[in-house]
Amino acid sequence: MSRRKLIAGNWKMNKTAAEALSLVNGLKAEAAKMGKADVVVCPPFTALATVAGAVKGTPIAVGAQNVHWAENGAFTGEIAAAMLKEIPVAYAIIGHSERRQYFGETDETVNKRVKAALAAGLIPIMCVGETLAQRQANETDAVLDRQTRGGLAGLTADQVKATVIAYEPVWAIGTGVVATREQAQEAHAFIRKLVRNLHGNVADQVRILYGGSMKPDNAKELLAQPDIDGGLIGGASLKVADFMGIITCA
Ligand code: PGA
Repeated sequence: MSRRKLIAGNWKMNKTAAEALSLVNGLKAEAAKMGKADVVVCPPFTALATVAGAVKGTPIAVGAQNVHWAENGAFTGEIAAAMLKEIPVAYAIIGHSERRQYFGETDETVNKRVKAALAAGLIPIMCVGETLAQRQANETDAVLDRQTRGGLAGLTADQVKATVIAYEPVWAIGTGVVATREQAQEAHAFIRKLVRNLHGNVADQVRILYGGSMKPDNAKELLAQPDIDGGLIGGASLKVADFMGIITCA
């Protein structure tokens, strides 16, 4: 079963709209080299419209970094799926470890956000991953089981198929310490097996991205692993040359 590779840039809280435009224009200039990989950039909310306008007619898609579960209402500071669809935005990162760590995101709220994204036709990029302490305590599988199971709870097989999962070991995010290809492949295979147990053969079609210090010089061996279908890239997505270096590995 061949799955199309997906490379997504998570810009986090970086780039004003003007700076985002300049970065995405740099990527656009390289679009011919993007080949067969799906490419997504996820700027801050304030730059989504600018970036979406700039990538029209190019192979680059746009994602948000979060989405709320309600259609509208008294949720100060949150953004609803329909607001993103209108821009238009195609993807939404959900449950990133920084949101779990600093903003109280739980498996339950992740699940609600995933459901709302799917209902609106957004593709969720649902993040899971263990901390260093959890890995050292041999809890990696238990954490991945809980987060994946919780995040996908109540979804139909078709909805699971439409969901992208990102395995991001927290200890590898922004640290320069990348998971070895064996560690990453093992976690990805574990997640895929779990998805198969829960939802059957759609597991073969679900794309599982690796995230955590992926760079041009380690992307190739990670992306060559049988269960690694792409990358969620933080730091290296903020520079055209680095991001393109990863895309061309895919
Ligand atoms: P990093 O971040 O590539 O800077 O480690 C990845 C992420 O947090 O999505």
